[in-house]
Amino acid sequence: MTISKKIENIVAGSSFIRKMFEEGAKLKQQYGAENVYDFSLGNPNMAPPEKFNEVLRDIVSTCGLDDHCYMPNTGYPMVCGSVADYLSREQEVSVSDKDVLMTCGASGALNVALKSVLDPGDEVLTPAPCFVEYKFYADNHGGVLKKVQTTSEFQLDMQAIEAAITPRTKVFLINSPNNPTGAVYSEKRMRQLGELLTRKSNELDRTIYLLSDEPYRKIVFDGVKVPSIFTAYNDSLIGTSYSKDVSIPGERIGFLAVNPRARHRNALLGAMAVANRILGYVNAPALMQRVVACIQGLSVDISEYKRKRDMLCEGLASFGYDFVKPEGTFYLFPRSPIADDIEFVDTLKDERILVVPGTGFDGPGHFRIAFCVDDATIAGALPGFKRAIEKYR
Ligand SMILES: Cc1ncc(COP(=O)(O)O)c(C=O)c1O
Repeated sequence: MTISKKIENIVAGSSFIRKMFEEGAKLKQQYGAENVYDFSLGNPNMAPPEKFNEVLRDIVSTCGLDDHCYMPNTGYPMVCGSVADYLSREQEVSVSDKDVLMTCGASGALNVALKSVLDPGDEVLTPAPCFVEYKFYADNHGGVLKKVQTTSEFQLDMQAIEAAITPRTKVFLINSPNNPTGAVYSEKRMRQLGELLTRKSNELDRTIYLLSDEPYRKIVFDGVKVPSIFTAYNDSLIGTSYSKDVSIPGERIGFLAVNPRARHRNALLGAMAVANRILGYVNAPALMQRVVACIQGLSVDISEYKRKRDMLCEGLASFGYDFVKPEGTFYLFPRSPIADDIEFVDTLKDERILVVPGTGFDGPGHFRIAFCVDDATIAGALPGFKRAIEKYR
């Protein structure tokens, strides 16, 4: 073999997702894309806000040579400053431009954070179900991803977390609002988590970092608020992006921020700048940095996602599907009517509906519907969802 064993195994393990993608493409060719109901990808379907295009046009029209040059690995200080001002309000903690590193999306932020803190064999603990890529990100930097089950409502289970922390735990990685469940962790839970991590760090004489992956922070419904991470726990980092809420995942722009009260703040900031460089990102895309500096707080119309969620939830509930109504994101994670979620996903495929089995997210017995799609896709799929569940009555 000419490729690494590790990558060979990852490629082989990805064949299931690839197979789904290929079968979806085949179905679209056979029946026409408009007759296939594709809920498989978390690719936002709304165009970015017009303000984003205006700022982009303005910046492009005034770009000179200097605007395309190398820069500090952390990003343009002016851009970090603009993010820090916004974060200070959001987190209710005074954040400075020095606490912010611009990254290639949330994935870039997570990889920089993990590269900065993990030693070989260190454990990254995360609540399951969880984002598929986490195990690769931990492994990229010599870490091992460990999962801890959530409650039946997909909320943090403090007892289970306490039992899962070991002397090798270095990072507790959360994602709220959550992909794939749509769960949001309340302020009370975050406070409890902060207390638990403080106690365990003291007991184990080791800093356990709280890493908050939050590209869906702004996508919340019904007045739900995502609490401040920085006030909940001092040794915390936030990794996020503009991918989902501004609908620009292809532009690869996000940031990693360190809690200014973190014990090893300066060492962390130095490590992050180097990690961004040696991972080969060097710095986040220059043009997009300048754009996001001018659109802090901007997002697509979130009420559109709420409307889609309600349309889907009302339909599925009336057919007898069981689910926890998502408080945020554009994902719904219903229970599969049969234990074998992969078989049920195949049944849905027979109805030309494409979703992802929960097994892929460490949430077996469920399936994920990404409802960042046109209304017509939801409306067109509902009769198929009904027929699919009826097959098992
Ligand atoms: C939970 C979670 N984290 C991180 C990412 C990656 O985001 P980005 O495209 O900004 O790297 C995604 C994308 O789907 C996600 O769902």
